[in-house]
Amino acid sequence: MLDGKNIILGVTGSIAAYKAAYLIRLLIKKGAKVKVVITPAGKEFITPLTLSTLSNAPVISDFFSNRDGTWNSHVDLGLWADTMLIAPATASTIGKMANGIADNMLITTYLSCKAPVFIAPAMDLDMFAHPTTQQNLERLRSFGNHIIEPAEGELASHLTGKGRMEEPENIVRVLEAFFSPKEDLQKKKIVITAGPTYEKIDPVRFIGNYSSGKMGFALAKVCADRGAEVVLITGPVNQTIDHPKIKRVDVESADQMYEVTMNVFPTVDAAILCAAVADFKPAVRSDEKIKRESSNELCLRLTPNRDIAASLGAIKKSGQVLVGFALETNDEERHATDKLRRKNLDFIVLNSLREQGAGFRCDTNKISIIDKFGVVTHFDLKQKLDVASDIVDKLATLW
Ligand code: PMT
Repeated sequence: MLDGKNIILGVTGSIAAYKAAYLIRLLIKKGAKVKVVITPAGKEFITPLTLSTLSNAPVISDFFSNRDGTWNSHVDLGLWADTMLIAPATASTIGKMANGIADNMLITTYLSCKAPVFIAPAMDLDMFAHPTTQQNLERLRSFGNHIIEPAEGELASHLTGKGRMEEPENIVRVLEAFFSPKEDLQKKKIVITAGPTYEKIDPVRFIGNYSSGKMGFALAKVCADRGAEVVLITGPVNQTIDHPKIKRVDVESADQMYEVTMNVFPTVDAAILCAAVADFKPAVRSDEKIKRESSNELCLRLTPNRDIAASLGAIKKSGQVLVGFALETNDEERHATDKLRRKNLDFIVLNSLREQGAGFRCDTNKISIIDKFGVVTHFDLKQKLDVASDIVDKLATLW
């Protein structure tokens, strides 16, 4: 899985820096190309000569070479990488990464890196447990970075606890698992609804909501990447998606979304209903623009839209899986559980507008999954693509 992968290995000032030498050997054995970036403190623990000999490449530490003034481009390095691994990562480096303190080559490279980032912390148990470190790690997780939890054991301080950098073999296993293509949804067909619906008032106005489509599109991508054939039925959004396994159908109103989804449902193995469907539409739609001058006050009479989720729940066949979403503002679990039962869902994904970084428009989400047996699983704040992976993992367990 790591054959041909370009890996930046960031080494920081920890006693565990000696393990970086083993890590490089293992990665090179797996066919990866490794370039090492080391912090000034890292050089106190392991020599650049050792690391460059093992990696077959110069070790980068300074912004430019003192010998000939050559500029070390952290941007080029960031773009070269398929992944960046910081092992060992000290509390100081973790703090700088979480707060963008770009005072060394490792942090500038991290900030320029578009590839997935893995962080293997190494520090004393109390430093690791400190709320500052935990909050910084939480922040890095919310950026989509992957934390390879330290192991428990004897530490450099001779205390025993959690803080030992994970063993190089296990770190390599984590990377291999990440890069191994998951194709567990081969032969599955999944319909996904996404985005808002627009309910026309007149030719220029509508009732809508803030859904951007990001969550639904992330789900479509993850399902397709894992081998499923996807029908993505979306309300009006600015998202683009280009994947041979995704068929996109654009709709505008809840009625249109209802018709297309009901039509496709008998042919699929699962439906994931992520769209923020308008619950009501104007009872009467004006064919002409309503003029401001026509009256002092405008009353709109609204009539309920058909509930797509509940209608699918009523015709669901055995073997078909139905996944709904619940966007709540209060009494979250109670309302979500009520929707799960009423709509005959297999599980429901709860997101709350009370959580920062969750719900509409943002690139992140924080969800809980409640299944039909009442089991509730809470997840951290993550990028919507990673949230989609968690949801699809749950779906895959039902097959
Ligand atoms: O698009 P983003 O900006 O990324 O935001 C993502 C999101 C916040 C829209 C998404 O994560 C989400 O929560 N979607 C569901 C929003 C919603 O309408 O929730 P609800 O609690 O009102 O609806 C419950 C379920 O019934 C949902 O699965 C919904 O799709 C479905 N429903 C609702 C009404 C209706 N007429 N038909 C339906 O199918």
